[in-house]
Amino acid sequence: MTENEKQLHDAAYQAVVKEGARAEADPYRQVYHRMPPVGLLNDPNGWIQWKGTYHLFFQWNPFAPDHTHKFWGHWTSEDLVNWNEEPIALAPSEWFEKNGCYSGSAMELDGKLALLYTGNVKDEAGNREAYQCLALSEDGKTFEKKGPLVDSQPQGYTAHFRDPKVWEENGFYYFVIGAQTEAEEGQVLLYRSADFQKWDYVGPFAGSRLNGLDAFGYMWECPDLFRLDGEDVLIVSPQGLEQQGNRFENVYQAGYFTGKANLETPTFAHGDFHELDEGFEFYAPQTTLDEKGRRLLFGWMGVPDSDEEHQPTTEAGWIHCMTVPRVLRVENGAVVQEPAEELEALRAGDPLEMKVRLDQGAEAAVTPASEIVLETNEASSFSITIREGLTVTYENGTLSMSRPRFKDGKTETRSTDIASIDELRLFLDSSSAEVFVDGGRTVMTARFFPEPEANIVRISGEGSLIWRSWELA
Ligand code: FRU
Repeated sequence: MTENEKQLHDAAYQAVVKEGARAEADPYRQVYHRMPPVGLLNDPNGWIQWKGTYHLFFQWNPFAPDHTHKFWGHWTSEDLVNWNEEPIALAPSEWFEKNGCYSGSAMELDGKLALLYTGNVKDEAGNREAYQCLALSEDGKTFEKKGPLVDSQPQGYTAHFRDPKVWEENGFYYFVIGAQTEAEEGQVLLYRSADFQKWDYVGPFAGSRLNGLDAFGYMWECPDLFRLDGEDVLIVSPQGLEQQGNRFENVYQAGYFTGKANLETPTFAHGDFHELDEGFEFYAPQTTLDEKGRRLLFGWMGVPDSDEEHQPTTEAGWIHCMTVPRVLRVENGAVVQEPAEELEALRAGDPLEMKVRLDQGAEAAVTPASEIVLETNEASSFSITIREGLTVTYENGTLSMSRPRFKDGKTETRSTDIASIDELRLFLDSSSAEVFVDGGRTVMTARFFPEPEANIVRISGEGSLIWRSWELA
């Protein structure tokens, strides 16, 4: 470890010692979602099961609940439910990453755990440089930096060139990476290497004005390309899309295209862009293939530039968390996301079960961390108010989520059209809700900040439903 690196690690650990108890005392700390000990968390990074153990890294500013510094924090798990905090994986100590160890991915390389990430560099005038850098670990705990493998973007692109997602296929290594053309349009570029040292630019793979797509945002972040159930899936987080009805309601989107990729030409014949999550907070997700053959996704339960400073946890010195791990599959060209079955281990005690006549309504006391499964095929409309802080409504074929806006308390809503709903599965935590509709065909995610003592879920509507709920601990 260089002296500078050691100093940064020490400063981060000191921030945890100094501020950790204040964050820990916050009633909005989550029970089972992954959060930073202090400071800000954003993208999931380096998500991998390596030698049997799950490793999840995260963009982390240990010093403040804002985006001014970026380290890689690190957790491990054997079962996706119990997690260990590991030593800091990467701190922005070297010239090629001095303004942040930005997002990237992991793979096994010659028995070692390899991280490929973006070194972000800015000068006083705000000019950017982006380096794609390698770090290696033998023990999965301490990482040795090997420096940049790719030291600039290709011609015709700006330095908004980041977030490599790496994989191995047919005797080559590949990565896709987020990019911006000089005309300020978002694309994903493809790179290839025979030895992981020398990387060749294959060409633009997908994005604005490629594969029949029109201009589609000014930047594409955090691409992820994989094959699932016979389809090639490109997940990406585009910035700069205009809202169209109840599509693209957030400041930035995270979604996917399915189709057929050709890594030689390179081209990607794909269908429409679909959002992965129809709620308020979801961005920059990353997937990995685990040893059970599952494609597992974590998303950041946040969106950049979305009034983050108004979230109340900033007063306790921390902000943001991950989603629950979600298992993906493709059905009729659509990506479906189900909570990993391991989460059932969180259920404590027997479920509360009841049949609810919606015209009479019902209410139940819940613990802040709970799972509620509603069989709704006999309900023509319903409205669920969770702890007086978030309302989920289904009416006239539209599912919506409403909450008071962080900035000024005015009600804000996100909606999506669904012809009929048979089942709603809600994962509630102290300050979040993830709603899985019909086995994950639609998902809506939100942070919300009810009075900490509020514990009632109220439900009303037309028809009837069956309620089952568990405390999660
Ligand atoms: C996405 C993102 C990435 C970048 C990282 C920096 O949220 O902007 O493009 O690598 O965050 O923290």
